[in-house]
Amino acid sequence: MQHLLSLHDLTVEEVKNLLLLAKKLKSEQKKGLAHPLLKGKTLGMIFSKSSTRTRVSFEVGMVQLGGHPLFLSSNDIQLGRGETIYDTAKVLSRYIDGIMIRTFKQSDIEDLATYGSIPVINGLTDLLHPCQILADLLTVHEYKSKLEGLKMAYVGDGNNIAHSLLYGCAKVGMDIAVATPKGYGCDAEIIEKAKDDARLTGCSITITDDPVEAVKGADAVYTDTWVSMGQEKEKEERVKMFKPYQVNKELLAFAKQDAIFLHCLPAYRGFEVTEDIIDGPQSAIFDEAENRLHAQKAVMAQLLGSQK
Ligand code: CP
Ligand code: NVA
Repeated sequence: MQHLLSLHDLTVEEVKNLLLLAKKLKSEQKKGLAHPLLKGKTLGMIFSKSSTRTRVSFEVGMVQLGGHPLFLSSNDIQLGRGETIYDTAKVLSRYIDGIMIRTFKQSDIEDLATYGSIPVINGLTDLLHPCQILADLLTVHEYKSKLEGLKMAYVGDGNNIAHSLLYGCAKVGMDIAVATPKGYGCDAEIIEKAKDDARLTGCSITITDDPVEAVKGADAVYTDTWVSMGQEKEKEERVKMFKPYQVNKELLAFAKQDAIFLHCLPAYRGFEVTEDIIDGPQSAIFDEAENRLHAQKAVMAQLLGSQK
């Protein structure tokens, strides 16, 4: 494992090992045991979009691993003024040990990895959000003590979260059903690639426009905002289109009785999810948010720690 650009690039073994390491680091941290695995290492964190969880959990995670995080807003570095990805990758590789980047185009992250000589971690693009899904899988495992054989339902926009969730569930052998309105579905190539992995791990992938079909018998029900970063102008139309896809009491009733509710956050109560669900007893959202820290520490330890 050289980078974390997409969960699809990882082997089943690599995903499972990351989750195991995340669990170990979490339990050590809870016991107050230090684990300075990245002493003397520096992580550059480039942000071209807003963030609360990703920024704070990477920054704190790096400190807990004994390393140094460097926040690099694209408004402040020359990348935001048109310096190329090529030059940025080459230059940063001379100073730091790894890059976490949140930006728009997946191809920019791939270029950064290609041209640089240090590990690159995808902190969200328009297409994917792999770190989030590692934290989600960790959360489901904590609640259900397994992943294989469970059913994940995702209802809403066929966006970066839906894409990485398809990849993540397929890797760990968890059935996944995705319900999106017509015209807002997942990328066809991503669905096919996830299906390849699902064949290997023996799980199923269901793509539908019927939220009830997706949620029926699910162990976890996941939704995300209907208006992702960069889509603000489409808000009015999206709210209209996605209304039947709201996760509410009526929809959640089709899931297993002990199903958990997941949301990557930030959430918009009254839109993609009702208040009674997101703030109710089935909601696991704050464990999920906390697990960003533990999952990403595992990713950083794996990628930056093994560097000579
Ligand atoms: N879930 C997530 O990535 O949150 P932020 O946008 O706050 O980083
Ligand atoms: N789909 C959302 C996820 C935010 C963490 C977005 O891209 O804005």
